[in-house]
Amino acid sequence: MNIAVVGAGGREHAIIRKLKENQTIEKIYALPGNGGISFDAECVDIGAKDIPAIVKFAKENEIDFVVVTPDDPLVLGAVDALHEIGIPCFGPEKAAAAIEGSKVFAKDFMKKYNIPTASYAVFSDAAAALEYLKTAPYPTVIKADGLALGKGVVIAETFTQAEFAVQSIMEDKIFGESGSRIVIEEFLVGEEVSVLSFTDGKALVPMISSMDHKRAHDNDEGKNTGGMGTIAPNPFYTQSIAQECMETIFLPTIRGMAAEGRRFKGCLYFGLILTKDGPKVIEYNCRFGDPETQVVLPLLKTDLLTIMLAVESETLDKIRVEFSNDSACCVIIASGGYPESYKTGYEIHFNADKDSDAVIYHAGTKLVDGHLVNAGGRVLGVTATADTLENAIKKAYDNVKNVYFTDSFYRADIGKKALACAK
Ligand code: AMP
Ligand code: GLY
Repeated sequence: MNIAVVGAGGREHAIIRKLKENQTIEKIYALPGNGGISFDAECVDIGAKDIPAIVKFAKENEIDFVVVTPDDPLVLGAVDALHEIGIPCFGPEKAAAAIEGSKVFAKDFMKKYNIPTASYAVFSDAAAALEYLKTAPYPTVIKADGLALGKGVVIAETFTQAEFAVQSIMEDKIFGESGSRIVIEEFLVGEEVSVLSFTDGKALVPMISSMDHKRAHDNDEGKNTGGMGTIAPNPFYTQSIAQECMETIFLPTIRGMAAEGRRFKGCLYFGLILTKDGPKVIEYNCRFGDPETQVVLPLLKTDLLTIMLAVESETLDKIRVEFSNDSACCVIIASGGYPESYKTGYEIHFNADKDSDAVIYHAGTKLVDGHLVNAGGRVLGVTATADTLENAIKKAYDNVKNVYFTDSFYRADIGKKALACAK
């Protein structure tokens, strides 16, 4: 089989590494991939949002299966376009991807199907939003309706902060048309859990749970980022909470989507918060999370391609999906200054003696004259698995010390909170 994986991050690298364990795959292309991915797949210079070019490439290169990974191409209809020319894919069609593409859709959907989430109001008019915010309880959460590079959520502590957010999103349009409408919602308190799941729209198999660390610096300080590290499994997510989530959130979601004529096939990501009133949905993503995928897939024992084909052919209930009982930790090494401005082009040095039982997934690297350089904010994800979370964390950090480039930084406390809970 020839496979194309659309996307360019650490998540895509983890997917490609996992797919490579399947011996029946002849060739894997990455569209566009990155410097590190080029050692595992053939990188083709086609952007993840360039749907006509993706379709043309798949047709001309006898691609048997396409894994569409990032939110943008999914929301823009890449899977629909590939299906139109008869190419099977892993990923939801546009109608189902709206669960991430429009926060207003997701909130109205949850309300209609009684899925627990923060209470909310929708506004398409800035003046009306500001009037509402005058008497809203603080902190309050303001979200742009559409995709916003993961930056469309503002937690406002005061009316002044809320006013600034509404003005930037709705009037200055910092996220373009994604900010034509906003959701203002209740601030929820509790531990956060990420649960990725495989679903063919009828059956749903949750993957091992994980915990992201979104803030840039230790002790959850600094700006929100795409994620500075992850651990799996998440010790706050107990068996009984998992059972409750299946009944009150996961199954109602896929059944509701099917009832709406938006059958979801692919990886459905549940961003959950464990409140004192039970688990609630903070967000849905229509794709694998990053860096969650970098800890979840190394623990997957079942062949990934077999699962992806079962999802596409709607036979997920016919296979067994198994995870190992080990734990995993991923520490992201980022460019100095991220998530704000940072410099790229510094050569990355890998210590030759590096421990071979950790894996380094590449997120933002580029090959220049045979040397790997940093080319993005999040650069590398150092992942280790071990029998205990404590050992996985230790192993990941032992390996982090073997990688260096100018101005690089990482959080030193990935997994600390999870470890305290597990003990
Ligand atoms: P998102 O960009 O949707 O992943 O949201 C970013 C982060 O904002 C989440 O991981 C939460 O930490 C936080 N957040 C979003 N919605 C809420 C909410 N209703 N209450 C509390 N925190 C929230
Ligand atoms: N790590 C969060 C996300 O992928 O959206």
